[in-house]
Amino acid sequence: MAKIFSGVQPTSIPTLGNYLGAMRNFVTLQDGNECIYCIVDEHAITVPQDPKEIQKNIHNLAALYLAMGIDPKRSILFIQSEVPCHAQLGWIMQCVSYMGELERMTQFKDKSKGKQSVSAGLLTYPPLMAADILLYQTELVPVGADQKQHLELTRDLAERFNKKYGQVFTVPEPYIPPVGARIMSLAEPTKKMSKSDTNRKATIFTLDSEKEILKKIKSATTDDEASIRYDREAKPGVSNLLDIFSLCSGRSVDELVTAYQNKGYGEFKTDVAESVINVLSPIQERYHNLIESDELDEILDEGAEKAYAMAKKTLSESEQALGIGRRN
Ligand code: TYM
Repeated sequence: MAKIFSGVQPTSIPTLGNYLGAMRNFVTLQDGNECIYCIVDEHAITVPQDPKEIQKNIHNLAALYLAMGIDPKRSILFIQSEVPCHAQLGWIMQCVSYMGELERMTQFKDKSKGKQSVSAGLLTYPPLMAADILLYQTELVPVGADQKQHLELTRDLAERFNKKYGQVFTVPEPYIPPVGARIMSLAEPTKKMSKSDTNRKATIFTLDSEKEILKKIKSATTDDEASIRYDREAKPGVSNLLDIFSLCSGRSVDELVTAYQNKGYGEFKTDVAESVINVLSPIQERYHNLIESDELDEILDEGAEKAYAMAKKTLSESEQALGIGRRN
């Protein structure tokens, strides 16, 4: 039994990349583990958000977590800003971090590139993420490949703190799936599929209609070789569709390559779309039933209460180790 923690930002609807790279594993990891899942709204505000929009996204994300299969009887589901220990340990983690290592984070470099000014929060995003994880003595963190560097920093911060002030934090391991850790954009398959892509055809959102999914996959960039084989370098578009197809159908990439050997891209894409629809439609159906129910608030209230009890303990231990506040 391992302690698991992960989070998703409530910035728009989660993408197929979020689902296949991370959230799907959140669900399977519930078997035999102690899981804590978070809606990381404090991370979302590191870039400007419309207050009404983020409020809606928080609610939608909570319903989607449940619709995807997070079981509140087995796992804790809560909103980051409702457990103040995150911001508190986040501050402590900032004081343990070096400016240089934060400036070297790829996500910070990407998100600040070309901007005249960015928030200080964008730079201190990773220490807050470290706090999220370390507050629960987490052992395993299911994430997509883009979070690997943040996980490495989390490990460094935990080790640095423990070495200097005494053993307080468990040093977590990332859980990055062998397939699906980096679902690529449908329009530019050398780029990661992202919520914020301005090209609407690049990204499948988990609440897209069947028609939208089919249209987006049909227009996905491939190549003019007209052969279905797996080669990330030479055929990034086809390889990405094969990954998606494999994950959504449960068939291996090798099996699919053999099955589609003599078939054209048109038929292949229709079948990829069908497999995605088969995975997303039951989630969408459950989502629509949940979104109006009062159950959601009860689950989030209970989640915040349980998370707070665990987080408070670790926060106190870290404050005690640092010698801050009044101690006996
Ligand atoms: P976020 O909200 O950007 O993404 C949520 C999860 O989805 C994964 N992901 C992908 N996986 C495969 N292919 C893609 N194209 C793709 N795009 C996103 C992400 O790797 C992530 O696992 N920093 C985190 C949120 C966070 C967090 C945490 C995660 C805050 N605190 C503590 C784990 C533990 C983020 O921005 O996720």
